[in-house]
Amino acid sequence: MIFINITKKSCYKGNLLLVSPEYPVGRYISEQEMVPALKEEDKVVLDGWAAIALERLIKSVHIENEISLVSGYRTRMEQERIWEDTIRESGLEFTKKYVAVPGHSEHETGLAIDLARRKENIDFICPEFPYTGIFLEFRKKAPQFGFIERYVKGKENVTGIGAEPWHFRYVGCPHSLIMTEKGLALEEYIKFLKEYTDLERPYVYHSAEEDVRISYISVKGDRAEEIQIENRERFTLSGTNEGGVVLSRWKRH
Ligand code: DAL
Ligand code: ZN
Repeated sequence: MIFINITKKSCYKGNLLLVSPEYPVGRYISEQEMVPALKEEDKVVLDGWAAIALERLIKSVHIENEISLVSGYRTRMEQERIWEDTIRESGLEFTKKYVAVPGHSEHETGLAIDLARRKENIDFICPEFPYTGIFLEFRKKAPQFGFIERYVKGKENVTGIGAEPWHFRYVGCPHSLIMTEKGLALEEYIKFLKEYTDLERPYVYHSAEEDVRISYISVKGDRAEEIQIENRERFTLSGTNEGGVVLSRWKRH
């Protein structure tokens, strides 16, 4: 057995951070933690795992020449500038719908990417990313690479943000697959996982090669909680930024 300490800090690291109107980014995430989103595209930077997954997804769909990366990681200052510029240009109502309040943007984590169909004069706030052709193929494959469409039509009341067909969020597999299968927004997925706090009775995601056992661990106060993992068991831990940590444990068949 190995023993892992889960502390308050664990809540603010990982792929499942819930950053929303309700939950601000819980720790300072600096540009130095980011990498170029694509090897040939170093102006847009992302979290390292998100960048690797995005590159693989783009290559697997052969969409390299038809896609533009519009916006990845943003500093708090950049988000503030975008917020203020958009209010000036398009008014407060529009801005609240399509720009997160500074401190509350997923872009500040490096886990979100805005994509556009490549063309001249791309709209920075609302880029065009269609639901047809190769772009539809990209959307269908995205969950296999850990990405979800984060702000879908019909979930505006759940996310607090307008529908954004261009905004993709890295959450990692199998979470992206489960959320897509069940039609859950990240807010709803975390709520769903909160039913699985007993490590002996996790939610089990079955696939042809492996099972993934997923549990939610609530972190209360500053007290560290110790959990036990079997030797050589493959696992990940991700904070949720809303008071908990998600433990995922893999077992090959
Ligand atoms: N456009 C999304 C909501 C953001 O600004 O983070
Ligand atoms: Zn975005």
